[in-house]
Amino acid sequence: MKYSDREYATQILDIDENSLKLAKKYILNGELVAFPTETVYGLGAVATDDDAIGRIYAAKGRPSDNPLIVHVHKDYDADKLVTVEHDYVYKLREAFLPGPLTMVYKSRGVVSKVATCGLDTVGIRVPSSEKAQEFLRYVDVPIAAPSANASKHTSPVTAAHVYEDLCGRLPLILDGGKCVGGIESTVLDVTTETPIILRSGLITADMIRSVVGKCGYSANKPTDKIRAPGMKYRHYCPKCETALFSRADVGKAQALYDFCEKEGKRVYFMCDEGVADKIKGNKLLLGKTAEEIAFNLYDKLHEAENVADMLIAFEVETGSAIDESIMNRLTKACK
Ligand code: TXA
Ligand code: MG
Repeated sequence: MKYSDREYATQILDIDENSLKLAKKYILNGELVAFPTETVYGLGAVATDDDAIGRIYAAKGRPSDNPLIVHVHKDYDADKLVTVEHDYVYKLREAFLPGPLTMVYKSRGVVSKVATCGLDTVGIRVPSSEKAQEFLRYVDVPIAAPSANASKHTSPVTAAHVYEDLCGRLPLILDGGKCVGGIESTVLDVTTETPIILRSGLITADMIRSVVGKCGYSANKPTDKIRAPGMKYRHYCPKCETALFSRADVGKAQALYDFCEKEGKRVYFMCDEGVADKIKGNKLLLGKTAEEIAFNLYDKLHEAENVADMLIAFEVETGSAIDESIMNRLTKACK
């Protein structure tokens, strides 16, 4: 039987001495364990074990050319895995780690080639979530982990979201409640003279500039060379029809809502508080501040697919630098 066909009675357990013991047993045996972080839930396996990493790709249905990032606890010496080529890295570590910043370094070749997809670089993440730290410290091996969702689907911010997508494909989900950050870490290339954002997140270019004095941005326009392989795939999509409107197009969005409703569809708007008063119908409210919106985004996308046939989302605009990271996710989710 191929591993991808193997069925587990997936357990969801709160994090305590017993569940951590079990997690360590599975992990050291080459199995998968899902765990909470401050951004989204991760689907973890030993980062140096080719077979274990292969199981992550199989469980998610993830394209094999999309590399995984490696998670370590805050006292783990990441320099065993990577080489620091620029001194600004030390300043970034001091300012933002542990936290939602993944830095892509030159690899020392210790991390599995299956995880790096044969690249000579590897992304390292030190999550700030206490629960993630507890898990990583307990297993005390570097853990490769993508978001714990089926490939292309909305990222998971609760243990129930992980269960929905991956039930039967792993033995254990560690439950740490709802993730506080809500969107994935910023991925930053630190192999270059100027650090370059490959995927935007809660740590913004301005925050990086305030520490290092410089920060580039890989915009991933269709004409750009894609530097974070994952950015080219469909992502974050809920299992309902979707449409995305700019804030200027309230009238058009309302017309689509009314039309779909007449057709007998269950229709919902998804928007921030700035738009809510201007539209009539069912609403999934994202909140007011960028932090609130990031916190709610994936949860509301999951909710949408349970209640709606058609989701009509609005562009988010709060004036925060995080808006851009939110729109990066929302645009892909509603493609
Ligand atoms: O917050 C997060 O980053 C979450 C939690 C679980 O830590 N993880 C996560 O992993 O979002 P994933 O696999 O869904 O996204 C990682 C992104 C992908 O776009 C991937 O292509 C990119 O990082 N990436 C990984 N290794 C890379 C590398 N060596 N060079 C460039 N991009 C890389
Ligand atoms: Mg992901």
